[in-house]
Amino acid sequence: MRVAFLASEAGPYAKTGGLADVAGSLPKHLAKAGAEVKVFMPLYREVRSKGLPLLRASADLSFDWHDGPAVFSVWEEPTAKATVYFIEKNDYFERDGLYGPPSGDFPDNGERFAFFSRAVLESLRVLDFSPDVLHLHDWQTALVPAYLKFVYAEDPFFRKAKTLFTIHNLAYQGLFDREILGRIGLPPRLFHPEALEFYGRVSFLKAGLLYASALSTVSPKYSREIQTPEFGCGLDGLLRMRSGVLTGILNGADYAAWNPAGDAALARTYSAEDLDGKAACKSALLSAFGLPPLPRDLPVFGLVSRLAQQKGLDILLEAAGGLFGLGLRLVLLGQGEAGIEDGLKAAAARYPSFFGLRIAFDDGLARRIFAGSDMVLIPSRYEPCGLTQMYALKYGAVPVVRATGGLDDTIQEYDPKTGAGNGLKFAEAEPSAMIKSVRRAIALYSRKTDWMTLVRNGMACDFSWDKPAAEYLALYRALA
Ligand code: ADP
Ligand code: GLC
Repeated sequence: MRVAFLASEAGPYAKTGGLADVAGSLPKHLAKAGAEVKVFMPLYREVRSKGLPLLRASADLSFDWHDGPAVFSVWEEPTAKATVYFIEKNDYFERDGLYGPPSGDFPDNGERFAFFSRAVLESLRVLDFSPDVLHLHDWQTALVPAYLKFVYAEDPFFRKAKTLFTIHNLAYQGLFDREILGRIGLPPRLFHPEALEFYGRVSFLKAGLLYASALSTVSPKYSREIQTPEFGCGLDGLLRMRSGVLTGILNGADYAAWNPAGDAALARTYSAEDLDGKAACKSALLSAFGLPPLPRDLPVFGLVSRLAQQKGLDILLEAAGGLFGLGLRLVLLGQGEAGIEDGLKAAAARYPSFFGLRIAFDDGLARRIFAGSDMVLIPSRYEPCGLTQMYALKYGAVPVVRATGGLDDTIQEYDPKTGAGNGLKFAEAEPSAMIKSVRRAIALYSRKTDWMTLVRNGMACDFSWDKPAAEYLALYRALA
């Protein structure tokens, strides 16, 4: 099984969110399960800054682009477990930020990622890697099935290639003006509601949804939700039409990278068998955020998130008075939309002894938050999968989540009668519902036997990649 895996971000090279975790770890597990996988991503400034020993795999490739031949190179990471290739095109990718500054987009993102998609197809030929499956992720690579259908239809090299398009987030659609079709080498007739037009604009996402051989999302629940008007972002009709080829495969967690027993970022390591270190991580976390020590019966909550509407931080802000009235502490690490940042900063100024805020992207601090928190709060309005609840479980921080998408699939409400369950969840996206769950969590926290059962249940959860990787492989086989 020969798989070309295309993503706009992948760990440990460049990351803004969970897609990088998936694209950095799933290919290794596919390779372990026997697939031959080549990962492709852009050579961003951020990748270069890592100083990796990259080797040039191919230079001076070119294809016709709107302003003449587009010339680019392909670099290879020789130490990676699954082969990783980087597409070098400095005028598109040698910039600060992957998609734009923290709170915005580059104006030429459509062109940048259309170029990337085309460049990978051209690279495959030069690398003589004729894939059985091209596995594509989100709008940035969604044009690949359109290029295969409208540009490479007669090309024997791609005759056998099937495509799997994975939706990590339906709300990010890659919408651009009509004129872009001419600039990216696709026929203008695709500007049509039954093709790529979406309410007067060109939707890259639609190319994936319409033309990929199969579709998947990153949790079973989200695969059902997106077929409803509430979660369908205007595309639920199309998704219902394609429901026969749409499945949900829950993401995995890479426990080689996310394990409190071997995490060098922590003040002290610990495990389910020996939790002593977790208390040290908690004190270190409170002092890192300048928060006073807590009475024994009160917990610290953590939250690590992109600051986007999706994440329900408005619900958190509305609930702030009620939450801090309970005496708990909250530490939050995030970066993103300016409006949300401002709201959080105002709350941090108002509740300085309860709420610690860091506006940044900081992987080490994210880990210290999972380790030092008793609980994590995840109030998402929607969540295709969510990885922070999985990491929190492994680090012994109990998730209190909104029951949506992958959060609902991974978290089972704790039942004190049976001792089963790994967290707490609330259904309505309302401050009152959130506060009710938080109150229940604090009550459990004060009953140490229940609490330790809940923490240990979570640490014992196994979301490793072996099962999802096998599911992807079965899906590839069904296609090829
Ligand atoms: P999403 O992909 O929607 O952002 P996920 O829960 O799937 O949500 O994944 C988020 C990933 O990004 C996790 O690995 C999380 O730890 C990380 N992350 C998010 N924000 C930050 C931040 N400000 N600093 C460090 N890591 C972050
Ligand atoms: C998206 C989703 C998130 C998911 C991640 C990885 O960014 O918002 O829920 O976990 O992709 O699939």
